[in-house]
Amino acid sequence: MARRKISLVGAGQIGGTMALALAQKQLGDVVLVDVVEGIPQGKALDIMEGRLSIGTSTVLTGTNDYSDLAGSDVVIVTAGVPRKPGMTRDDLLNINFGIIEKVGQAISASAPNAFVIVVTNPLDAMVYAMQKISGLPAERVVGMAGVLDSSRLACFVAMELGVAADDVQAVVMGGHGPSMVSLYDFVSVSGIPLPQLMNRETFDALSKRTAMAGDEIVGLLKTGSAFYSPGLSAVKMAEAYLLDKKNVLTCAALLNGQYGVNGLYCGVPVIIGANGVEKIIEVKLSGEEKVAFDKSVEAVKGNAEWVDGKMKG
Ligand code: APR
Repeated sequence: MARRKISLVGAGQIGGTMALALAQKQLGDVVLVDVVEGIPQGKALDIMEGRLSIGTSTVLTGTNDYSDLAGSDVVIVTAGVPRKPGMTRDDLLNINFGIIEKVGQAISASAPNAFVIVVTNPLDAMVYAMQKISGLPAERVVGMAGVLDSSRLACFVAMELGVAADDVQAVVMGGHGPSMVSLYDFVSVSGIPLPQLMNRETFDALSKRTAMAGDEIVGLLKTGSAFYSPGLSAVKMAEAYLLDKKNVLTCAALLNGQYGVNGLYCGVPVIIGANGVEKIIEVKLSGEEKVAFDKSVEAVKGNAEWVDGKMKG
């Protein structure tokens, strides 16, 4: 079988992290695309030169030309500006919409058969804009947020309990912002329901930390936002698609009536396989959780309406 092609639009911090992770996993050849001359070429060559040490034959190239997206199996989009301290994700709306517009048109022209994963913030609005602009079917346009948010919650639970990080499973739903919803009953430690191991009060504190985890990293880094864990989360989604794994992952997917939401992208558990988003899973939420989820949807809706206004204008 021919090698698969994974294109990364945006060769910044997250783009570089993904390129390395993809090379380590040998999921396919990697094309880094960026508007800045030299950065994608330099990062590609740098990883190429390290291949002997990690034992991979992945070929990486860098380009400033969107037409090199042609034939991509997967396109992961991080093109945009990251958050600086004091900036909310929504402050980014205006700048990043203009970038997604260009990238969406390029994907539509050069890679209409790709599975597209959007990472650029504000996530729910950017993935919504990407689907509308590219015109690709919604099952092949998803947003990376829930995988990261769930992984952050799982990390905090593991640290609190002193257990292995990869023994903890978690589900964080809703929009990728302060209103995201961490689900207490849905966390398990090697199959043991969290409520048997941790009281609600402790969980609520971890859930709060999860909702602000992006800001916590911005506050520490000062010159940018998180990139290792977002990059690894997006690669996990790409892997589920490329290997037809049918992984259950929380992703921003276009809802068509599920959870009482119509025509909006929002973080929900989905099955990802060779057909993209193969199923949206509707889980039962408690009354309190449903209220929190609906509130989160309202925040997402505001940004989606902003995108609609921009596209009409
Ligand atoms: N086409 C291609 N690349 C672009 C474009 C464009 N139109 N506009 C900007 N870029 C590139 C920048 O040149 C930069 O190299 O996108 C890259 C973004 O990289 P970083 O600034 O390092 O940002 P990063 O940390 O990777 O985050 C990217 O993901 O999590 C979100 O909020 C974050 O929106 C941000 C995005």
